[in-house]
Amino acid sequence: MIHRTLLAGLTGLLMLTSLAASAADTASIEKAQKLASEAGCFACHTVKHQAAKDGSLPVGPAWEDVAAQYKGKPGAAEFLTRIVLEGSNPYASHWKNKAAGLAMPPNAVAINERDARQLVSWILSLAK
Ligand code: HEC
Repeated sequence: MIHRTLLAGLTGLLMLTSLAASAADTASIEKAQKLASEAGCFACHTVKHQAAKDGSLPVGPAWEDVAAQYKGKPGAAEFLTRIVLEGSNPYASHWKNKAAGLAMPPNAVAINERDARQLVSWILSLAK
């Protein structure tokens, strides 16, 4: 009897912890999406990959593609945060045929470093 009560208590506790964890996830996803729309990122980016049918590519690469490209690469979060804030190099554009734009302008006027870091870590988490 005692065992059963203990077990029920433990299961309840476990369920509570996982509930809290998923609530936190949802909150940080919503925060990231809010940051992105306030900073105007979605003017050029989409989250989901888009097929290049009829040449209608987004201006910037889909963030799922960015995540796939940088998945597991050391220093990716730092590197991408710098690019988001300072802009990308038009001569080293590496999203040809996947994005219509050549380079990303600096976004430091629209987003601060801490928020950019948080946004980038969400973008990197989109890798499947
Ligand atoms: C005016 C259009 C535009 C806006 C606004 C914009 N981007 Fe971009 N972004 C681009 C383009 C174009 C590229 C591809 C650059 C390249 O080929 O190197 C890019 C690339 C990126 C990359 C990948 C960089 C790389 O080197 O692979 C990330 C991450 C990114 N953008 C995040 C953001 C975030 C976050 C915001 C909002 C704060 C934002 N972008 C706003 C156009 C934009």
